Amino acid sequence: MKKTMTHTALIALPLALVLTGCGQPSNVSFKQDVLPIISKHCVECHLPGGAGHEASGFLVESHASLMKGTKFGPVIVPGDSLSSSLYRLVAGEVDASIRMPHGKDPLSQQEIAMIETWITQGAQNN
Ligand code: HEC
Repeated sequence: MKKTMTHTALIALPLALVLTGCGQPSNVSFKQDVLPIISKHCVECHLPGGAGHEASGFLVESHASLMKGTKFGPVIVPGDSLSSSLYRLVAGEVDASIRMPHGKDPLSQQEIAMIETWITQGAQNN
């Protein structure tokens, strides 16, 4: 019995390290990790005068404007990525016609994971 448990621990520990190492980013920074993704994929349409801003009121110029959301309300629920329409739109959990960015290549799995983790960790302005 004792022998089996030691074995499990020896296998489980490196596995856990590998999973945290290349799966979910461990500590996400808004300024260093999230903002560059938004700048790359969203500013084109979600700055003042852009098509996405005109249509939805959603601005990506600052942490405050991201948290404010659209003219209908927030698109980020801190701590709950699945309830956050921003996450669902970029993760492709919606119909392709409304996925973000509109009509462009989707975000990479890594970028999507970064946004997911940032929201799960409280969508902080860090
Ligand atoms: C090519 C232009 C374009 C790009 C790039 C773009 N959007 Fe949009 N976005 C739109 C348009 C147009 C709308 C309004 C129509 C709609 O909701 O589909 C919109 C609406 C939205 C909404 C509001 C949806 C709702 O439920 O009302 C969110 C949130 C959003 N975009 C997030 C993003 C994010 C995050 C990115 C970057 C990953 C992004 N968009 C990139 C054009 C764009």
